[in-house]
Amino acid sequence: MKKPTVLELRRSKSARLAMLTAYDFPTAKLVAEAGIELILVGDSLGMVVLGYDSTVPVTMDDMVHHTRAARRGAPQAFLIADLPFLSYGTVETALASAARLMKEAGADSVKLEGGVEVVPIVEALVRAGVPVLGHVGLTPQTASALGGYRLQGKDEETARRVLDGAQALEAAGCWGVVLELVPASLAQLVTERVTIPTIGIGAGVHCDGQVLVFHDLVGLFSGFTPTFVKRYTEAGEAMRNAVARYAEEVRSGAFPSESHSFAIKDDVVKRLYGS
Ligand code: KIV
Repeated sequence: MKKPTVLELRRSKSARLAMLTAYDFPTAKLVAEAGIELILVGDSLGMVVLGYDSTVPVTMDDMVHHTRAARRGAPQAFLIADLPFLSYGTVETALASAARLMKEAGADSVKLEGGVEVVPIVEALVRAGVPVLGHVGLTPQTASALGGYRLQGKDEETARRVLDGAQALEAAGCWGVVLELVPASLAQLVTERVTIPTIGIGAGVHCDGQVLVFHDLVGLFSGFTPTFVKRYTEAGEAMRNAVARYAEEVRSGAFPSESHSFAIKDDVVKRLYGS
């Protein structure tokens, strides 16, 4: 699959873009091989890989480490990396953070959270040549200020904030915008009002693309699954069963069998026994 250019992405309205997260070499390889065109090294890795209860503790070093690994797994993919919490508070820090993700880790674009309030940062990044994907609606880095992980834009004031944010991000130069956890009809309106692609997660069918967290899609966790997630398989269960069978076979002596072992000529070992 040929890597899309930022200009092509910017123009890919109604293209039904399929984006998925990946945070390491094997997953990025698998996701790219399955035909995913856009890979996001999201700071959701803080929760699904590092075991934090939010994305807030994720550091620049974490993002660089995981983006480099994902890049090695998917050298041809369009790779987007999240700017983690407090790594883009000023133009200077945003430029330095974006430089690390693009130059050190090989990202093709950065993503940052926020609407109207992040416009000066987006403008500076775009002016410096950094492709930026916006993110409005539920913004996990500031979820606690939004009242937790809950639907955004339910009333006129908050719905307007989502719409204004998306339009401001477009004007500031973002090539696309993620809409997270907003009503489908609001996502439809935003999608109609901006010329850049909208990529939805929990935002209904009218967006120009969709994104999911890999671990949710393949069922790697047995706990809570948000209603907007479709689990396409139960990989967690399959992996747990495989590990339990391995442990059982080691204990019973069934593994390793002869087919998993190596042989040498009998007399070599016999001579060692005799020495
Ligand atoms: O960090 C992430 O994985 C994200 C997606 C949920 C859009 O921001």
